[in-house]
Amino acid sequence: MPVITCIDDLKRLYRRRVPKMFYDYCESGSWTEQTFRDNVNDFQDILLRQRVAVDMEGRSTATKMIGQDVAMPVALAPVGLTGMQCADGEIKAARAAEAFGVPFTLSTMSVCSIEDVAENSTAPFWFQLYVMRDEDFVKNLIDRAKAAKCSGLVLTLDLQILGQRHMDLKNGLSVPFRPTFGNIANLSTKVRWGLGMLGTKRRTFRNIVGHATGVSDLSSLSTWTTEAFDPRLDWAKVKAIKKMWGGPLILKGILDAEDAKMALKIGADAIIVSNHGGRQLDGALSAIRALPAILEAVGDKVEVHLDSGIRSGQDVLKALALGAKGTYIGRAFIYGLGAMGQAGVTKALEVIHKELDFTMALCGRRNLGDLNRDNLLVPEDFGGRWG
Ligand code: GLV
Repeated sequence: MPVITCIDDLKRLYRRRVPKMFYDYCESGSWTEQTFRDNVNDFQDILLRQRVAVDMEGRSTATKMIGQDVAMPVALAPVGLTGMQCADGEIKAARAAEAFGVPFTLSTMSVCSIEDVAENSTAPFWFQLYVMRDEDFVKNLIDRAKAAKCSGLVLTLDLQILGQRHMDLKNGLSVPFRPTFGNIANLSTKVRWGLGMLGTKRRTFRNIVGHATGVSDLSSLSTWTTEAFDPRLDWAKVKAIKKMWGGPLILKGILDAEDAKMALKIGADAIIVSNHGGRQLDGALSAIRALPAILEAVGDKVEVHLDSGIRSGQDVLKALALGAKGTYIGRAFIYGLGAMGQAGVTKALEVIHKELDFTMALCGRRNLGDLNRDNLLVPEDFGGRWG
């Protein structure tokens, strides 16, 4: 087993082991990828204050997200097609999250279904919902999530139409995997991935197939979203979904203080500051830069989480010290999953946990709840002074 010391090590291994088509799907942003890059790079503009001669024994990263105990406030984000990165990927990721004590979020666009994950794990997980045109199907998804005892609904608000990721079009991304002449050569080098896929029956969008009517072409993501997703989603529909669900509701894709205020008004239990990993509105603010204004607007009234750009425990700490109560990793766990299956997701969580714990200690804190802006050096105009 190679020595893995950071998320980048997992990424290198992931790139070698997973077909290019799925690597590209994960590792792309929309259009010019400006926001995709900014999400990661902007963390570097925030620096940490080193403090010394502070007793660092007895540290803990344990806290709560939406009232639920977590070993550290780092949930696994919903990622579409996770089960194409590695056979039964969602089940493996859910198991790794459960063993570690962090939440796993299952995407509507997952390969393993809600029932697959529920049957193969024991901890309650969160379900991420995309709102579809077919209202019966949406109701049915919510009922299935309730039946599976999901302990949170993550409603995504920033993807009613799909941002264009150039490589998916060039690669002819399809699910189930249909090798074209162009990618057969690449596939033949991914033996471990191929054997895994041969060994599972889970190779299509199992939340959808057999459940939704009127979706004729699942193979292309862009066709599927165009056909099925509801472009009319508005706050009234969000309200209706909150009512239908009746449990803890997390609104994902908030990047603007005005929208954060609307989410608060609706009564969300948490909001996720996110630009979908830079996969939707290219040219939008990075998530970490958007965070301060949103915290200022609603941070004392609703739990604010951060997604998009986190690749290390240092990043997590910066978000928490700014005032976020939770964070999400998407790509960082997918690298681990594609590299080494469940053990790779565990490794990604271990890497981030150690970085978070040690960084907290070197900042002179023993508990995450003690972190605040005093631990950071934030450029005065970090949130931007926009006209
Ligand atoms: C779906 O969530 C995607 O970003 O591809």
